[in-house]
Amino acid sequence: MFELLAYERFRDTPAVRFFDVTVDTSNARDLVIHSGPAISPPNDAASGAWQFYLHPHQEDNLLAASGGRTFYLVNLAWEQPFHIVRLDSGGDILRIPPGTFHRSVSDPDGSVVLNQAVREEGVSLVQEFRVYNSARIPALLAVTSIQAPPPRLHGVEPLLQAA
Ligand SMILES: [Fe+2]
Repeated sequence: MFELLAYERFRDTPAVRFFDVTVDTSNARDLVIHSGPAISPPNDAASGAWQFYLHPHQEDNLLAASGGRTFYLVNLAWEQPFHIVRLDSGGDILRIPPGTFHRSVSDPDGSVVLNQAVREEGVSLVQEFRVYNSARIPALLAVTSIQAPPPRLHGVEPLLQAA
């Protein structure tokens, strides 16, 4: 399953926020900046189908440093395979295990997310950042279709469920 990790907040005031966000096991850092209501990866241009990343050999540890972002997680090995998780600025770190389909949608004003990844030695970045089109993966499409049981929501307003 995914996890939401708390961390030490040294100072959290309206003017100054100072946190220790170290993920001890991380050996790679990605900084992902959405300057508007971006979708990552973008929906398939031709069909509009949702697309996902899946890292075979990388764990993601995602912290929203600014703005908010909503993550759609699908793992076909989980008892409940489809979750929607809200990340708010300065909130918990979202840990996504390898083998989990994931896509994210930024709030209208965009977001800045720091990923303290745990990447296996010698992996192919091309393979780790492959994009998967849900329209071409029947099991993924079935779980995320409107006919499927609804996703489990974590910090998300139920309105999003209809999206
Ligand atoms: Fe990722």
